[in-house]
Amino acid sequence: MSYEQYKSYFRSAIDGMSGYTPGEQPKVMNLIKLNTNENPYPPSPEVLKVLKEYDAERLRLYPDPLCDKLRDVIAETYGCERENVIAGNGSDDILTIIFRSFTDSQHPVACLEPTYSLYPVLAGIQGCNVNKIQFNEDFSLPDDLLEKAASSNLLIITRPNAPTGNTFPLADIRRICAEFDGIVLIDEAYADFSDDNCLELAFEFNNVIVSRTVSKSYSLAGLRLGFAFACRELIEGMMKVKDSYSVDALTQAIGAAAIADQQYLQQTSTKIRASRQVLSDELRKIGFDIVESQANFIFAAPPHGEGEKIFKFLRGENIIVRYFPGEITGKYIRITVGNDEQNKALLEALHRFYS
Ligand SMILES: Cc1ncc(COP(=O)(O)O)c(C=O)c1O
Repeated sequence: MSYEQYKSYFRSAIDGMSGYTPGEQPKVMNLIKLNTNENPYPPSPEVLKVLKEYDAERLRLYPDPLCDKLRDVIAETYGCERENVIAGNGSDDILTIIFRSFTDSQHPVACLEPTYSLYPVLAGIQGCNVNKIQFNEDFSLPDDLLEKAASSNLLIITRPNAPTGNTFPLADIRRICAEFDGIVLIDEAYADFSDDNCLELAFEFNNVIVSRTVSKSYSLAGLRLGFAFACRELIEGMMKVKDSYSVDALTQAIGAAAIADQQYLQQTSTKIRASRQVLSDELRKIGFDIVESQANFIFAAPPHGEGEKIFKFLRGENIIVRYFPGEITGKYIRITVGNDEQNKALLEALHRFYS
């Protein structure tokens, strides 16, 4: 059958949407990969111990669908009860659960712009409208955010925001949570690199969900584990929506070991925060306009806003950063903070370009 004859059996919402475009995962080695906010340091040594000692025989059985042991470790680490925690296959899966739970054609979502580009894709799948609310020019929250979001059932605040890396005053977020008539999801994928976080809001309000991931600060992007905090009633509802075995047995064991090792998390995130400062200062000296970052990446506009040109130049130098086309985002590149060697190579390449 030729393509012209193909009749689509998809729902019109699926036919009408574009899929998510993930950052490039290059097949060749020897590239300096600073494009998808992975951690340059290895996971906790506790992870290796679990891997070495894991009895493969256990994989014959299904994993615990409720992830109880893992949720207990998360609850103990973050100071709440198991009933306040849900685990998923990466925080993308948590986002999917949230979209399936709270949005449809009658229940729109509001998020800021620019932000994580998966949200509109999940909205597209649900057939729900996305109310994109523009940030102020400096990527701060607009004063009329609540008015603009008023008709939505779900409001997403990404803190620190991606791809910009900046954060917003906790007091403003608390006020939004108190006043918004709907679910507020605070996506805290990068919160471990930030001076503060919104976790307490998940326990203070019954309409707030805070999501986290092991992909960035725990150096486990390849594992696929995310989790979220909320009041018991919200968690109970979301448990109905999640796939039964979304977190495999090995991930539950490794994730618990990594999360229990908070000392290691502190060590690596402190190093990344220090490197972020050095890299930001050096980029400024070259003439980049930097958004003050609280994440493990830097949103940086090269001189003359030539984001695409510098992205392509760096690609030619075997350094991959992320470029987001667009009137505002196109002026920038997003650089993941690497280790000392990677950051040095990046700066050397940029010095070559600008000398
Ligand atoms: C803001 C934000 N939320 C969620 C995610 C998804 O993370 P995970 O790897 O846990 O699915 C990302 C990944 O880049 C992100 O930038």
